[in-house]
Amino acid sequence: MPRFSITTPIYYVNDRPHIGHAYTTFVADALARWHRMQGDATFFVTGTDENSQKNSEAAARKLGKPHDQITHEEIQAYVDGMSATWRQAFDTLGITYDRFIRTTESDHLAGVNQLINAVRDAGDIYLGTYAGWYCVECEAFLPEKELSGGMCPYHTRAVEKLEEQNYFFKLSAYRDKLLAYYDAHPDFVQPVSRRNEIIAYVRDCLEDVSISRPKKIWGIPFPGDREHVVYVWFDALANYMTAMGYGTDDVRYRTWWPANVQLVGKDILKFHCALWPAMLMSAGLPLPERVFAHGFFTIGGEKMSKSRGNVVNPVHMAERYGVDVLRYFLMREIPFGSDGDFSEERLKERYASDLQKGIGNLAARTLTMMRKYNDAIIPPPHLGGGRGGVGCEAAVATTWRSYAIAMDALLPHEALDAIGSLVRTADQYIESEKPWVLAKDASQRAHLLATLGTCCELLRHVALLLAPIMPDTAHAILTALGQPDWRSHALTDLQQWGSGAIGATVGDLPHLFPAME
Ligand code: MSP
Repeated sequence: MPRFSITTPIYYVNDRPHIGHAYTTFVADALARWHRMQGDATFFVTGTDENSQKNSEAAARKLGKPHDQITHEEIQAYVDGMSATWRQAFDTLGITYDRFIRTTESDHLAGVNQLINAVRDAGDIYLGTYAGWYCVECEAFLPEKELSGGMCPYHTRAVEKLEEQNYFFKLSAYRDKLLAYYDAHPDFVQPVSRRNEIIAYVRDCLEDVSISRPKKIWGIPFPGDREHVVYVWFDALANYMTAMGYGTDDVRYRTWWPANVQLVGKDILKFHCALWPAMLMSAGLPLPERVFAHGFFTIGGEKMSKSRGNVVNPVHMAERYGVDVLRYFLMREIPFGSDGDFSEERLKERYASDLQKGIGNLAARTLTMMRKYNDAIIPPPHLGGGRGGVGCEAAVATTWRSYAIAMDALLPHEALDAIGSLVRTADQYIESEKPWVLAKDASQRAHLLATLGTCCELLRHVALLLAPIMPDTAHAILTALGQPDWRSHALTDLQQWGSGAIGATVGDLPHLFPAME
């Protein structure tokens, strides 16, 4: 059985999830659902990045204590609470993770120890002194030349000057190996603009990196030297494997690692496409198949930030518009890989045009016609497009093909575009066949029935195609079409033209996209 494993970045718990975090996680969820639907053994990992200075600072702020006076127990209690908030948010948003990893869990600690020991055994760790800058927001050591006006180029926060003894990882020794790897694996870093960016970075800028911090910082004790803790990124990156059993369960690890797809934001590209593969090379472990970096959101044209007060909470959005609507909008509106803008105005426009007038209307009119003209019983569709002549069967087959290509290329907006075309085909079909006219002519009865069957069949395919992206909407439509058990059928069967619940009675469909206040 083919297998598919996919990961999102793990999230800092110094704050609640925002719409950018939800975006990556929705896409990963849609891909995981798509693979499960095809019958692939699937493993989807997300979770929280807890051993971070940002988190301990947030804990101190919450308790109103100076950062250097907060205890480990207090930080742990804070990250426990915040991690639960994230998990709950993801549950509300319909995220079907198989493992929600927390980097304070014991199996993660065991894996991090194993990984550091392997890198040390490879001769890639040495003790040195780091004198330079550190941005707590990025949790990154920043060379002087990367600062802009003395500040971190990504955050407006002032950087800290550090001079400390650290363990270093010989990252620069992997320059040629990394370049050769990118060359031999053109799909490793996607999209291609990010691949070019990482090649230039590795070629021109790669330096050794600190992988420990002094023990006063919140973190995992450094194996072999308790005066240090593991640098948070070195620990966090390992989550992808520890979540799959690395260091604790070899069988599970070998089942799922290497991941097929790792989704990240463009701001953490270097960590994932230079440091991470070099760590794996050093430990003699396989590299993930593909790392895809998506773009950043602005909110109504502005950078999203607490200080601007424009941070969008995905749970609030889902309460206002519905989880499926939010999932649809984010995946349809912003091409995966590019930067994009989130605005409620745009969401409302798409709601009206794509969902109410498109999918919602197709579903409602199909079911109404069924009740009106055939006592709600689903008849067989026209075969091969039949007398309708618009080639509905062929349109469905083409849609499945372009949909699969788009999903496999990690481009959900293109997959949704393909569904949009099929909805338009269905609308045109209804307009051209005019069942309301056929119903008036008894000699057209057979044609009317096949036309109604074709409408149901088109709607059924639209719903199936939507399932990874709008799972509840899809399930409601399929249930109304007499196929509530669709998940227990093989996709290859469901994809056959005419494999709907012929002879079943169409059920009630809740009003999918009601008017907004
Ligand atoms: N903890 C690290 C990741 C460690 S993975 C081993 C981290 N966490 S984060 O919570 O700050 O960010 C997680 C993800 O959210 C990143 O992929 C980041 O790109 C994404 N986003 C943060 N702000 C975003 C937008 N405004 N728009 C889209 N995605 C954004 O980094």
